[in-house]
Amino acid sequence: MPMIRECIVTTINSAGAVQIAPLGLIAADDNWVIAPFRPSTTLENLRQVPYAVANWTDDVRIFAGCLTGRRDWPTLAANDVPVPRLEAALAHAELQVIEVVEDSLRPRFRCRVVSQHNHRPFGGLNRAKAAVVEAAILTSRLDMLPRDKIMSEIAYLKIAIDKTAGPEEREAWEWLMDKIAAHQGTA
Ligand SMILES: Cc1cc2nc3c(=O)[nH]c(=O)nc-3n(C[C@H](O)[C@H](O)[C@H](O)COP(=O)(O)O)c2cc1C
Repeated sequence: MPMIRECIVTTINSAGAVQIAPLGLIAADDNWVIAPFRPSTTLENLRQVPYAVANWTDDVRIFAGCLTGRRDWPTLAANDVPVPRLEAALAHAELQVIEVVEDSLRPRFRCRVVSQHNHRPFGGLNRAKAAVVEAAILTSRLDMLPRDKIMSEIAYLKIAIDKTAGPEEREAWEWLMDKIAAHQGTA
């Protein structure tokens, strides 16, 4: 299996509207592959404007926020591509689509790295941040996963939240727990 790096992808449509979405980028030699499941705004945007920015951020509120209707995160102009980057990015990579492999379920957009930029230092690993990212992935699959699996995984991930979270991770966790509860009709 190839390495996958979780990031926040920014894209634009031909009218310039920005889409901010968490996606796992698949490593492929010196390239990154963006593989959005249909239907997806990111997918449609990449067809209209074949550029993207991979925003490397440890602010897990953005991962949880995008999954819970909070997509309005500040952006800034990028250097070499027409797509903006996230203001919160620790670093970002500016990408150009160089190949599209069509698929009825999950087309693949192979991207070359046009340029990379650092903005602020990485503050180190944190178990609660990883737990929020895992819970965000679970939240993106609520219609596909059995309730028991979701609840047992959340119970395990909550240990890291209780032991290691700061205020941002707690806020992100609450957004996700509210969405899971609402989905299960127990809110
Ligand atoms: C960490 C993480 C990684 C994700 N990776 C993918 C991915 O590789 N492909 C995908 O289609 N959705 C992925 N998702 C779910 C998308 O973020 C979600 O479906 C999003 O709304 C994409 O649709 P959009 O382009 O219409 O915004 C991921 C979610 C999270 C939290």
